[in-house]
This record gives sequence, C-alpha cells and structure tokens, in this order.
Amino acid sequence: MTINFRWVLRHLPLWLIAALIITAICGSLEGIINGVVLGQFPSLVGASSAKLIRYLLTSSTLYLFTYTFLYLCQILTVVAIKHLNIALKQSMLTVSFQQGEATSHGLNHLTNDAAKIETNYFSALATLLTAICGAVLATTFVLSVHLLMGTIAIAFSALTMIPMVFAQKKIGKLGKDWSQANDRTVQTANDWLAGRREINQYRTEQSFFARVTGALTNSERRLQKQNIFQWTVQYGSWLLVIAAMMGPWAIGFYLMQHGGFGVSISILLTLTLSADHVVGSIRQVMAVWGDLASTKDLRKLQAAPIPFSQTAAKTPTAPALALHQASLAFGDHQILRPTTVTIPYGSKVLLTGPSGVGKTSCLNLLAGWQQPTTGKVDLADTPVQSTDVTYVPQEPWLFTGTVRDNLTLTAHYSDKELLASLQEVGLLTELGPDPLSRILHPDANDLSGGQKQRLVIARALLRRRPVLLLDEITAGLDDKNAHAVRGLLYRLPQTIVESAHHLDPALIQEFHFQTYHLQDQQLILEH
Ligand SMILES: Nc1ncnc2c1ncn2[C@@H]1O[C@H](COP(=O)(O)OP(=O)(O)O)[C@@H](O)[C@H]1O
Ligand SMILES: [Mg+2]
Repeated sequence: MTINFRWVLRHLPLWLIAALIITAICGSLEGIINGVVLGQFPSLVGASSAKLIRYLLTSSTLYLFTYTFLYLCQILTVVAIKHLNIALKQSMLTVSFQQGEATSHGLNHLTNDAAKIETNYFSALATLLTAICGAVLATTFVLSVHLLMGTIAIAFSALTMIPMVFAQKKIGKLGKDWSQANDRTVQTANDWLAGRREINQYRTEQSFFARVTGALTNSERRLQKQNIFQWTVQYGSWLLVIAAMMGPWAIGFYLMQHGGFGVSISILLTLTLSADHVVGSIRQVMAVWGDLASTKDLRKLQAAPIPFSQTAAKTPTAPALALHQASLAFGDHQILRPTTVTIPYGSKVLLTGPSGVGKTSCLNLLAGWQQPTTGKVDLADTPVQSTDVTYVPQEPWLFTGTVRDNLTLTAHYSDKELLASLQEVGLLTELGPDPLSRILHPDANDLSGGQKQRLVIARALLRRRPVLLLDEITAGLDDKNAHAVRGLLYRLPQTIVESAHHLDPALIQEFHFQTYHLQDQQLILEH
C-alpha cells in the first residue's frame, strides 16, 4: 500500500478539502493585488483627498481579504495535517503489528519516517496547493496582458522543471537509504540502553558507544547526502531561471525592433514583473516536488492495514489437535520432517530435545502461529488458529500498567475471576495488599522472573481455551514453584503440550504424560 495523493484525499473530510482550495485561491491573490494596487499610482497624481482616502480604504480591504484567507488556509492546513498524521501513524502501527515487524523497525516508521512524511509530503502538498493556485492566477494575468509574449514567457519558465524530472527517482532512493540507516540507529541505541549492565560490567562503554555513534553519524550523513543532492538539483533549476528570463527578453527585443505583434517596452516590463510570479510559483513547485520525491519509498507500506475484529473464534468443546504430514523448514534448515500425530482432547504431552532442535518451532506450529511448510495442523479437523489455543512463551511479556491490565489485556473480566487466577498461580499474597491495582514496571525488574512467568500463566488460565501450549515455562521457577504450578496446570481438563528441559518424573507418571523426543527432525514417542 502506498500513501499517495488519493490516500490523502480519502482521509480528509470533503468540507476540509473544499475549504482548503477556496482559502488557497483567495490567499494567493497577493501578487495580482500588488499589481492592481500599485498600477493605479500614476492615476493618483493630483487626485482629490476623497479619492486618495477611497484608494487607501479599498487597497487595505483587498490586502485584509487576502491575508485573512492566507491565515485561514494555514490553520486549515494544520487541521488537515493532524487528520493525516493520525491516519498515517495508525496505518503504520497496524501494518507493523500485522506483518510481525521487528520493534525497532516499527518505531522507526512511527517516529522518523512519519515525521519526514509529515514535513516533506503532507506539508509539502499544502505548499504545492498554494503554489499551483499562485501559478495559475499569475499565468492567467500574464496571458491577459499579452497573449504571445505571455505564452513565450511561460514556455521558457517550464524549462526550470527539467532537472527535477530527471532527479526525482534518485532523490526517492536516497530517502530510503536514510530510513534504513535510521533503522540501524534505533536498533543500536536500543541495544545500548538495554545492555547497560553488561556493557558496564565488561567495561566496553567506549567501544560500544563508538558503535552507536557510528550508526548515528551514518544516518545523519545519509540525510545530508539527500539534502545536498536536492539543493544541487534546485541549483540546476535556478540556472535555468536565467534562461527563462533572458529568452523572452531576447525575443521581445527582436519583435520590438521589428515592430511585430505590438510588443512595447512597457509590455515587456509588466510581463517581466508578472512572469516573476509565474516563475516564482513554479520554482516553489519544483522545491516541493523534490520534497515529495524524497518520501517516495518511505510512503510504501508493506501491506494495507486490516481492521481488527473483536469477535473471538468459536472452538468446539473437546477438540483433538492433529498434525497431518506436517513438516517445517526455514529455508534449507529442516526442523521437522513430514509427521502425522493426533493428540486427543485432554491429553498431556511432553516435548523434549536439546536446545535449538526446534521445540519452540513445533509449539508455534501447534499454536497456528507458524504455518507448516507442507501438510497441515488441525484442531477439530479445521486448520488451527492462534486464537483457538493458549500459548505461554518462555520469555514472559508484561507491560507498564496495572496487574489487572496485564491480566485482561483490556478485555473484560470480573475482579473475582482475576483474583481467582492470581490465587491459582500463588501470586495473590505476593503482590501486596491490592494486587490488581499494583502498577508493574517490567523494565525496572520489580517482579522476579518466576513471578512474571506465573502472572503470564494466570493470564492464560483466565482464557480457559481447550489447548494449552507451554514453552519451557518452568525455566525461571524454583523446584517448589515449578512443582506447584505444574501440579495446578496438569489438573486442568484441557490438552497440554509442554516443552521442557527439567522434567518432574512424579507428575509425569501421575498425569500419564506421553513424551515425544524431537531428534533428527522426527518426533519419537518415548512413553
Ligand atoms: N522464524 C525463524 N526463521 C528462521 N529460523 C528460525 C526461525 N525460528 C526458529 N528458527 C531456527 O530454528 C531452530 C530451532 O529453534 P527453536 O524452535 O527455538 O529451538 P528450541 O526451542 O528447541 O531451542 C534454531 O536454529 C532457530 O534458529
Ligand atoms: Mg525454545
């Protein structure tokens, strides 16, 4: 999807577009008003006081009129940019989320790219509107002064567009280079701030900081390169402005000397003055064109945002989970060869295997989060969706906010349900007197690793989905807590597939676990 002129029109209310055009036209009359008002000077010599006063009042009214509209046009532009910025950032956020983009990429789009699009596209379009209005009005005026000479002056003015026609593609590419360099800057800055402790402990601040500064310098250098190129193209346009002035003069002088087409020195003078408005506006259009081109690649989004739906998928009450000749590979790296396994509802399954063998990837397959390379993964005979099952990751994700919000993720649950889920994971007393209202700061490590993990399990328990996928969830728990949490989870009627390093033999026996060992890209049933 591209953020283009059509997108802009679609995201602005009709009244705003109409009001912008009207105010832009009325606000760009200044050039013509100058001509009309100043043009009357000769007729004022020896005029009566009454006539002079009338002249002053009329002139003031005309200027007041055009400046008021210029002001209104600016205000409406600000309003329009607000509308567009909101729509743009919403689209960027949605697309980053839906395409699974890395956090630093998403943040770079939302900050750097969006800021550049605001200045060099949205604001530039507004400038373009006033510049075009100015050019059209001035052109009409010039043509009405002398048709032939006016046409010649305008044709020469068009020359100034040539450099930009050839340069716009390169300007767009330089804009993309800048954005990519910014991506790296955001990424390294993020690493630098997150790794404070390690960097400090190994005394590598200086060299690591040099790395961050290197990325920073590189993105600034890219921006400088783009801006210098843009100004160089501008310079080319300015040089052609000389031709745009001299050409019509030369033709005009020639016609004057040979008495053709009624060209006189006063017509040439008027034309030069008025054509300046045409050329000035066109020069402005050229500058804006460069700005617009500089955002060309930034305005391409990976996809169109899809509206979010609130309706939860309806899953059957006791569904079986099944792999049908399902395989998984990342490029040449085979994780699982075609495998067929059925896990009846309520089964308890353990997935073992050395680190890096593909346990998480297999759970992702069962969770419907990762599509199989071949074959299919079904829940109750239909392809499994990530909204059908609950997956508890190895790294708990919590965000800055209350325990309540962290449990509900803003969905609706009663306090009773929430407190019960905290009770189930043994957190009810650990989180203080009013646990649901406690504000968490996950970055500040105000909870231990095990507490975070249990909070995320409480979030999963609230959902009561038929399948629970657990990815090394006891890695951060001590033996006592691990045993308690497992004991609680295994008693649930749901299907459980757990990947684990540290096993709990007593529980495995008590709950009749089936153990699959992932080895040589195969699931080998051990018990
Ligand atoms: N999205 C992915 N793209 C490419 N390779 C991946 C992806 N996800 C996992 N892998 C690779 O698959 C292998 C198995 O990873 P993983 O499933 O996390 O193993 P385990 O959980 O058993 O430690 C690793 O080599 C990992 O680099
Ligand atoms: Mg893993």
